[in-house]
Amino acid sequence: MLVGSNGPCISVSGLRMDYGRVTAVDGISFDVDYGRVFGFLGPNGAGKTTTIKVLTTLVHPTAGSVSMFGKDVVRHAKEIKKRIGVVLQEPSYEGNLTVAKALDLYGMMWGMPGERRRDRARELVEKFEMQEFANKKNDELSIGQRRRVQVAREFMHDMDLLFLDEPTVGLDPAARRVLLDYVKKHVHGGLTVFFTTHIMEEVEYLCDEIAIINRGRMLAIDTPAGLKQKYGGIKAVEIKLKEVPAQSVMGIIRQVAGSNSAVEVPAEDTVRIGSQNAQELLVKLIEALAARSVQIESVSVTPPTLEEVFLTVVGTATTTTATNTNTANNNSRGRAV
Ligand SMILES: Nc1ncnc2c1ncn2[C@@H]1O[C@H](COP(=O)(O)OP(=O)(O)OP(=O)(O)O)[C@@H](O)[C@H]1O
Ligand SMILES: [Mg+2]
Repeated sequence: MLVGSNGPCISVSGLRMDYGRVTAVDGISFDVDYGRVFGFLGPNGAGKTTTIKVLTTLVHPTAGSVSMFGKDVVRHAKEIKKRIGVVLQEPSYEGNLTVAKALDLYGMMWGMPGERRRDRARELVEKFEMQEFANKKNDELSIGQRRRVQVAREFMHDMDLLFLDEPTVGLDPAARRVLLDYVKKHVHGGLTVFFTTHIMEEVEYLCDEIAIINRGRMLAIDTPAGLKQKYGGIKAVEIKLKEVPAQSVMGIIRQVAGSNSAVEVPAEDTVRIGSQNAQELLVKLIEALAARSVQIESVSVTPPTLEEVFLTVVGTATTTTATNTNTANNNSRGRAV
């Protein structure tokens, strides 16, 4: 958290953005705290890039308010721009410049003095493992290499808040990991990150909080664990017993889990129970078995993946929207927040 900063880093209230007759963002609200990675997810066309464009002062919102660092984004655009970094979804590069020169030029645009520019560029070439192509022209690079340069150059200047719109598209697994770790390191140093991606492993690895939007509307917002808890559906608790047949504890299991629970016996010494609230059930089962001196070899809970959560949330939204097409109050539609 920045010294002297009060309130959230980003505060969005009732944001709406129309492109002519197309409503790309339809009344979303959320806050992002300092020093956090905020994952902004949604299917293609959901309104993610449009939201980023408003937040980064590239377009004016149709309605609603956005403030960053406690300042209104429209009235204080110039001041805000100085404190943010943006890697847009569209590729942008100077084809004729070498990577090293492009980094240097970018630093120059931010008014960095020569020595600091050179040091920072050298550091970025090394950290993003770009030595092999640092002296090549951007035009001569592969798509993934170009994307790496585009992300790396944003770190030429110091910033408080960084917007990354699908930064890892086209990156190989090693380059992706390098990028995510570099971002993580800066977050530990106080950077706030607004991050979009379609790759749920990246969300899992990086994000402290997640918002899921669709058709310009906010569907869910929570921590990854909170979302899994809410939308994970039924998960399995598996208990392997020590030298006791599973059948001998079925009475206890049914008593704790409830007679309607799905209970399986996948092996003679193992029992598996489906539950909406697996963690809680697991604790109760361990207590009940321990109270009857039944020894346990191992336990596991199969956690839901974020991909399952995403598909559940977006799937629910589609159904909800379809059944509410005549509802006058749009804000109440598809909200699960
Ligand atoms: N310049 C534009 N003019 C008109 N409509 C636009 C424009 N840009 C985006 N849209 C529309 O706004 C909606 C949201 O688009 P946006 O680019 O914000 O989606 P997104 O969530 O970033 O999708 P993706 O995952 O594909 O990047 C879409 O319906 C899109 O067709
Ligand atoms: Mg986009």
